[in-house]
Amino acid sequence: MTRLLRVDASIRTTGSVSRAVADSAVEAWRAVHPDAEVLHRDLAASPLPAETWARALTASHAPEEGRTSEQRDALVLVATLASELLGADALVLASPLYNFGVSQHTKAWIDLLVADPRLGPGSTALQEKPALLVVAQGGGYREGTPRHGWDHSTGYLERILRDNFGMHLRTVVADLTLAGVNPAMAHLADAAEQSLSAAHEDATRHGRSLGIAA
Ligand SMILES: Cc1cc2nc3c(=O)[nH]c(=O)nc-3n(C[C@H](O)[C@H](O)[C@H](O)COP(=O)(O)O)c2cc1C
Repeated sequence: MTRLLRVDASIRTTGSVSRAVADSAVEAWRAVHPDAEVLHRDLAASPLPAETWARALTASHAPEEGRTSEQRDALVLVATLASELLGADALVLASPLYNFGVSQHTKAWIDLLVADPRLGPGSTALQEKPALLVVAQGGGYREGTPRHGWDHSTGYLERILRDNFGMHLRTVVADLTLAGVNPAMAHLADAAEQSLSAAHEDATRHGRSLGIAA
């Protein structure tokens, strides 16, 4: 069965821009694949335990019979996450910018994926698999803005998904999302609105074509 893996990292369940934009992509994908399945991994609602990564890595160097039950559990979680991605026909990852960097939930997910031997260095298992990265940012980091270069999340996620995993990646950014909240950004309200509506349009367009050969 055709399957989409949707991964969310926003710590907000209501009012989340990244979730709303990802909704647009998933809705468009569902319209094209009405009988398909959407597997949802919500990294914020069910965070991946921080200790799993080290346990999985040490386990992979230990003889099978000498592994602790925690190490075994860690390997099971690693294999589960990798199988979810490997078994999906396409990925939608919605990950906000936090503290100018990658959401810790998303980073934990990536570290665990890479710990699976099927997705480790040199793996081509995800080559050309379609993926959509949805980014929400409170501020603005576009070229020519004072904080251009301060977004250390989007480039990293693109590097991992596109260059490391070899996925066929599209990125949609909704920026200035704090314009309605932060009085110092009130003058950016129109730009924020435009960014949001463009993000929904782009997500819908990419959602429709996700997994369909061009
Ligand atoms: C703890 C925290 C840290 C944040 N750090 C940044 C930041 O460094 N830069 C930025 O532009 N926005 C930052 N934001 C704002 C979020 O990126 C913005 O609210 C975004 O819309 C969150 O995604 P969501 O709407 O899907 O929840 C931060 C928000 C939180 C809660």
